[in-house]
Amino acid sequence: MLTLRPACWPGDLALVASIDTSFTTERIYRVVRQELGFALVEERVDPPLQKDYGSITDDPLLGEMSCVVLAEQQGRLAGFAAAEYAAWNRRAIVRHLYVAPERRGSGVGTALLHQLDTFARSAGARCLWLETQNINYPAIRFYQRAGFRLCGLDESLYDPAGPGRNETALFFVRDLARSEAPAATPLF
Ligand SMILES: CC(C)(COP(=O)(O)OP(=O)(O)OC[C@H]1O[C@@H](n2cnc3c(N)ncnc32)[C@H](O)[C@@H]1OP(=O)(O)O)[C@@H](O)C(=O)NCCC(=O)NCCS
Repeated sequence: MLTLRPACWPGDLALVASIDTSFTTERIYRVVRQELGFALVEERVDPPLQKDYGSITDDPLLGEMSCVVLAEQQGRLAGFAAAEYAAWNRRAIVRHLYVAPERRGSGVGTALLHQLDTFARSAGARCLWLETQNINYPAIRFYQRAGFRLCGLDESLYDPAGPGRNETALFFVRDLARSEAPAATPLF
């Protein structure tokens, strides 16, 4: 059985730090610049590409986020998600969403997203917004399936000399008024 609960700091720090945030993909979306726009072209990569987001607990803002959820299954951490609410533009921002590799593809990400959606609605948000990267094909497909739409990109966000070189930031949004509220028990 999957259980969702709010994180408890600092008690859950070691548990949250243990989650493997990496993914491997055989496909990416290549960003093709056009005269006054961009196109995202699905492309195979060989060998498969791997990226590791590192430890979530390195995020200095984690302790300040109002919605931090742990998913547990058979006494083990199955996933983690965090969001915050920006009152100035009434947007809820998904800051973290990771499912343990052995639990991926079994609905844990969807259950965590439902909880973030429930938090966003109760905070009065008009939408859920997030950033991912053009190389994170699995996450892009996941967000699209969950009703998010691409709302922008930034090819200058990552330092070409840093770990995100060759990556383009993609922004996705889900309008809450246009999507059905999930049947999730509110935790926040
Ligand atoms: C992206 C992620 C959170 C999805 O979580 P998940 O628990 O595996 O997703 P779910 O099982 O709830 O999948 C729901 C739907 O999303 C889509 N989906 C999920 N993983 C997918 C993949 N690898 N490829 C294509 N579609 C995928 C499917 O349509 C799926 O529905 P279906 O099972 O009925 O086909 C998870 O793969 C993950 O933790 N990835 C590594 C960390 C990461 O990249 N986080 C996001 C950072 S922005």
